[in-house]
Amino acid sequence: MKHVGLGLVLISMTACSRTEIAPETSIPQNELQSGYAFLTAETQALQDDAFENPGFLWVDRGERLFQSVASTEPSCLTCHENGLDGVAASFPKLDPETGELINLEGRINACRTRHQGLPPLAYESEDLLSLTAYIAHQSNGDPISVDVSGDAAPYYELGLDYFITRRGQFNLSCQQCHTENWGKQLRGDTISQGHGNGFPAYRLEWQSLGSLQRRLRDCDTGVRAEPLPYGDPTYVAVELFLAARAQGLEAESPAVRR
Ligand code: HEC
Ligand code: HEC
Repeated sequence: MKHVGLGLVLISMTACSRTEIAPETSIPQNELQSGYAFLTAETQALQDDAFENPGFLWVDRGERLFQSVASTEPSCLTCHENGLDGVAASFPKLDPETGELINLEGRINACRTRHQGLPPLAYESEDLLSLTAYIAHQSNGDPISVDVSGDAAPYYELGLDYFITRRGQFNLSCQQCHTENWGKQLRGDTISQGHGNGFPAYRLEWQSLGSLQRRLRDCDTGVRAEPLPYGDPTYVAVELFLAARAQGLEAESPAVRR
């Protein structure tokens, strides 16, 4: 593995302008690798062991929430008795009611407000993380498979644009790190291909489970850019773009990451 310091990355990257960045953001199917592949053996072992992997605390809690009844409202389970196997791997998708793109968190909140008469849950709240983890885990091993055709296409384009645009004081795009420099070292991390297939994931740095958007905010902050607010439609579009870029890769939430 090649080692480069951030300084070197910056020098080699700031030399080219936006227009020179290859529009080709995809990684060939046979080279697609989950972030898991870039972890130390120790962290991989933590993810693999369902008893040791702290992410399962949220999965278990999510299962209880899914079954529980708030006041007179039906539980999630009442309407989803057949489970939600494989569903998370198809998100984000268009909300049939509003026509807008929603991620899994948005879908859970839509069901709470529309079908349970309950207020939406805040991003990174224990309840939303738990429900998201419980549902995401039911897609574990399923290939990521999103629809970017028709009315979803403009969202894909928006996500793609965010991915290739340089930002922050470091003037770096997602593309430069995760498509052009994956496998290289950066501040003690091995840069992965930047897939969202492990999320929500437990990060040792957070000492918590966190959403994909929390990870995106960390990456934006890492280049000294102002992160977008949680739930921002552009971040949802980035999630769609990432899923399309990872099409076929197996979902593996709850992953463990450094
Ligand atoms: C300066 C380089 C850099 C830039 C720019 C950057 N990231 Fe990251 N990103 C990292 C590093 C380092 C990590 C942690 C190690 C890893 O998984 O790659 C990471 C992690 C991730 C992960 C989690 C991968 C996993 O399997 O846990 C995703 C998803 C991601 N980045 C997406 C993005 C997106 C989208 C952007 C642009 C908004 C972006 N990154 C910009 C360096 C960068
Ligand atoms: C009163 C019935 C009802 C309740 C209660 C309910 N949902 Fe739903 N849910 C639906 C319906 C109907 C849809 C399909 C929406 C559509 O496609 O228009 C749906 C869709 C979903 C989906 C997306 C399924 C897919 O294939 O895309 C998820 C995930 C989901 N619900 C999670 C939940 C969670 C979590 C709860 C509890 C917080 C919940 N739902 C409570 C009726 C309900």
